[in-house]
Amino acid sequence: MDRKIPRHIAIIMDGNGRWAKAQGLPRTAGHKKGADMIRTIAVECSRLSVEVLTLYAFSTENWKRPQDEVSYLCGLPKLFFNRYIRELNERNIRVCFIGELERFPQETRAVIEDAVRITAGNTGLVLNIAINYGSHREIVLAARAYAQDVAEGKISNDIDEEGFAHYLMTSGYPPVDLMIRTSGELRISNFLLWQIAYAELIFTPVAWPDFDEAQLNACIDEFSGRDRRYGGVKG
Ligand code: IPE
Ligand code: IPE
Ligand code: MG
Repeated sequence: MDRKIPRHIAIIMDGNGRWAKAQGLPRTAGHKKGADMIRTIAVECSRLSVEVLTLYAFSTENWKRPQDEVSYLCGLPKLFFNRYIRELNERNIRVCFIGELERFPQETRAVIEDAVRITAGNTGLVLNIAINYGSHREIVLAARAYAQDVAEGKISNDIDEEGFAHYLMTSGYPPVDLMIRTSGELRISNFLLWQIAYAELIFTPVAWPDFDEAQLNACIDEFSGRDRRYGGVKG
């Protein structure tokens, strides 16, 4: 049987800190290696013709971390895109973001906006990076925007599921087919709650900095073998 490739893969990139600790390195070293793995996994998804890869890079809760770690994470987009934007662009990858970007320092926002602008015309993989993203926040903002449109008479108040999904930050992308969480935790941590309604879930013990092409392909093999019934009867 042909291997089924998910249209939309979402990954909770967890375990950078524990990976670094295990090597006797500071947590930031784990984040640096983790950022390099974003390039590896994006290139592989592009090769496999995945349509959208949504990566959880920084949650609305991650501001609670020590200030020096938060500062390092805010500086990572610059390191990452300085190194890889050219290659991503050459590979026809379109870089997008979800989350409330306003909270990041101006320098970080400028780097992000450049990456989006440079790759805006690309038609291959959408590399969608979630930063200062939280699914509860996303749903609240969507509900507010919908209420506003109803109040202004722009839309009727009998919206359906598909209509509501247009108010989410992932508007225009297919629903998540496969969600992977690395590093062993068995939770969703406020990521894409609406969008994973019928996603297949895979939790792997492998830490994100060790999650390479072979690991991704093993997850896709497992996905491909699953029977997705969507509430129906086995066909
Ligand atoms: C994931 O790795 C990266 C971010 C959340 C920014 P962690 O930093 O959460 O690593 P662990 O879970 O502490 O090992
Ligand atoms: C989830 O990982 C957020 C990201 C991967 C960006 P966390 O490490 O923040 O999640 P918890 O705290 O273990 O739930
Ligand atoms: Mg973690």
